[in-house]
Amino acid sequence: MKRIIAIGLSTVFATTLFAAAAMADGAALYGACKGCHGADGSKTAMNVSPALKGQSADELLTKLKGYKEGTYKVQDKTAPMMAKFAKKLSDEELKTLADYIATF
Ligand code: HEC
Repeated sequence: MKRIIAIGLSTVFATTLFAAAAMADGAALYGACKGCHGADGSKTAMNVSPALKGQSADELLTKLKGYKEGTYKVQDKTAPMMAKFAKKLSDEELKTLADYIATF
């Protein structure tokens, strides 16, 4: 019984640590995005981008991957610039960013 509790507790602890690390990474990664999208994601980047604030992690991740793969808003003049940012990041980092931005 004690052992089960110990395993349970260490799982909770590890999950919390992991979440905290992901948040810190997200904040660090978002440093590169702030200038255009605003500290809380509510800015209309370069008068084009819809606000990131209020979007779900799934929506954000789909869009970021779309830029990376050249499938999202390809007709926009400004899309290649976003693609340049997305391409520099791994899928893992894009997910961390999407999860982080969804908390705004
Ligand atoms: C130099 C300014 C600039 C920087 C820096 C920048 N963005 Fe963007 N972002 C834009 C513009 C402009 C658009 C709209 C592009 C388009 O589709 O025409 C955009 C679009 C987006 C979108 C899609 C929004 C939507 O709903 O269509 C997401 C998501 C996004 N950016 C996330 C990020 C993230 C994450 C970073 C940091 C890694 C970042 N951006 C850095 C200017 C910027």
